[in-house]
Amino acid sequence: MNPEPNIPPAIDVKGLTKRFGRFTAVDNISFRVAPGEIFGFLGPNGAGKSTTIRMLCGLLSPSAGAARVGGLDINREPEQVRARLGYMSQKFSLYRDLTVEENIAFFGGIYGLAGGRLRDREAAVIAMAGLAGLEGHLTGTLSGALQQRLALGCALLHEPPILFLDEPTSGVDPISRRMFWDLIQGMAAQGTTVLVTTHFLDEAEFCGRIGVIAGGRLIALDTPAALKRNAIDEDVFELALPNPAGARERLRDVDGILASAYFGQKLHVFCRRGAFTGDTLRQAAARAGLAPDAAAAIPIRLEDVFIRLVERRP
Ligand SMILES: Nc1ncnc2c1ncn2[C@@H]1O[C@H](COP(=O)(O)OP(=O)(O)O)[C@@H](O)[C@H]1O
Ligand SMILES: [Mg+2]
Repeated sequence: MNPEPNIPPAIDVKGLTKRFGRFTAVDNISFRVAPGEIFGFLGPNGAGKSTTIRMLCGLLSPSAGAARVGGLDINREPEQVRARLGYMSQKFSLYRDLTVEENIAFFGGIYGLAGGRLRDREAAVIAMAGLAGLEGHLTGTLSGALQQRLALGCALLHEPPILFLDEPTSGVDPISRRMFWDLIQGMAAQGTTVLVTTHFLDEAEFCGRIGVIAGGRLIALDTPAALKRNAIDEDVFELALPNPAGARERLRDVDGILASAYFGQKLHVFCRRGAFTGDTLRQAAARAGLAPDAAAAIPIRLEDVFIRLVERRP
């Protein structure tokens, strides 16, 4: 799985498991992330993404399994692991009633920065995050996008080689999301390893590889292109319907149709390989009581893959 097998992985996870009482939140997950790679964790709410990240950051001890982060064992050396990584938690862990500068100084203290080094890093983070002129502003009064970039800056104060980002772009507008990804890609290009969780399928395309996680299990792992090519062995059609209400139910029992999902005004229909052409699918839909304007085979999108993988899981 490691794209460059001769270089030791930045993150190496084997059989990682977390149980809360009788509930298994993370179930025997294994994967490797190469240095400088952007690895995306994609999964629905409650899939186990945050729990995995918290174990890899040495904040939560695993029930079973092992992982090395930056070469260090998370079970044996959780404190040293924490010093080597940056962690941006799902709820930005900034203090809203401290100023920008005070938050930076606080997190700098946690990472053991002081004096000239702290001042240098503070200036670098202010510049990176586009916060010049806002140093004295209360953090809670900043926009979501600025708080996000400050949280990223605080996670990067000690220049960690490995960065964990847990849904970093939730609640951030699209333009700011794009700027954020430019920053992340710039850092990865300079060798920082990034493990990021996201709900946004368009963001998954920015990742070198994606692990799809559902119900605590890793159900697919590959590059976005390979996931589209290989993960779902089905034909996908787009059906244009004048009145889409109830269409999914009507198609449910049609032989050869495996599933369907709404995409805006269109219905994506997942079919057994070779079962239909656009024309025969349109006819089958008509027999099921629908009056489609058109049906056409379409290239599968990452969102289609994700929906089908999560739906089909055992
Ligand atoms: N401390 C905890 N105690 C009990 N259950 C937990 C705890 N933390 C998380 N969970 C449960 O574990 C599952 C995975 O949670 P989480 O890792 O936060 O998912 P995700 O980040 O993918 O949304 C959820 O069902 C959640 O309710
Ligand atoms: Mg989460």
